[in-house]
Amino acid sequence: MPACITFPSPYSGLIGAVLPAAEEGYTQMKTVPDPSRNMDERSWWDFWNRSYRTKDNNDAVSSELFERAAAVVNEITQTDGGRVLEVACGAGGLSRLLAYSTYHGLDLSPAAVEIACEKAKDLGQLRGASRPRYEAADFHVWPLQPDPFDVVVCVDAIVCFRDQRLAMRKMAQCLRPEGRLLLTAINSFVYNRIRRTPTTRLQNGPVSHWLSRRELHELVKSAGFTIERMWTIMPRGNRGILRVINSHKLNHAFGPRCAAFLQRLKERVGLGQYHVIIARKQAR
Ligand SMILES: C[S@@+](CC[C@H](N)C(=O)[O-])C[C@H]1O[C@@H](n2cnc3c(N)ncnc32)[C@H](O)[C@@H]1O
Repeated sequence: MPACITFPSPYSGLIGAVLPAAEEGYTQMKTVPDPSRNMDERSWWDFWNRSYRTKDNNDAVSSELFERAAAVVNEITQTDGGRVLEVACGAGGLSRLLAYSTYHGLDLSPAAVEIACEKAKDLGQLRGASRPRYEAADFHVWPLQPDPFDVVVCVDAIVCFRDQRLAMRKMAQCLRPEGRLLLTAINSFVYNRIRRTPTTRLQNGPVSHWLSRRELHELVKSAGFTIERMWTIMPRGNRGILRVINSHKLNHAFGPRCAAFLQRLKERVGLGQYHVIIARKQAR
């Protein structure tokens, strides 16, 4: 692992993703030192998870992301088997909303895993489920487990992996044939069009490569998956064209049903803040 990864500038994205309160009238503060530039990867993610994932429901954006991702995963585990692996589980926020028979979460950040383990102590036991397990590990070098999983989940993390192709191939290897993948990734088109407040510290984090819709599609397919569905969720953005498209006045001019319809339409045409992919591992 490199001692310190340096990144092409704007990685305001991921931090903004968890600081929705700080998203109006943003102007870039060039004078604020960016701590991620002086930290190794693990320390950065420890810092990030301690800053934004210590409490559940930290912000509306991540809460909605977790709820929507959990709804998709829980539909799959009800019918397709409940052995779940979550890659880059962070502090386990999503895992606490999941229904499973077994759950294994892994994350590079020991601090995140510590928070997840601590919170798991307060969880009631799901009927028929074993206790969730969390592990601090680098997925790039994580040994394959003897028993394959039914579902692999990776939320808001693939852009951070140093070797995205390797990570995707490993996700496929961890699954049984015909097992399912749920992947979400920031839609940078939308993300770069969200205003942030002058009080937001702009912190560049370890994004190895932002993925366009086409790149994401290709990455998943090339790892041996058949993509069953790809869409976006949570339309946002208030700069450029998105300022008009997401105008509250415009969207709510014809009542809540029309607003809900417009939201679904925007999600379908790719104007949501997150890409979501459901894919199936090809049977050999
Ligand atoms: C933006 S955070 C998302 C975390 C979590 N999914 C969430 O939504 O709260 C990205 C996570 O990816 C993890 N990560 C980055 N590289 C990793 C790697 N090589 N192996 C395992 N986890 C990794 C980081 O530690 C961090 O917790």
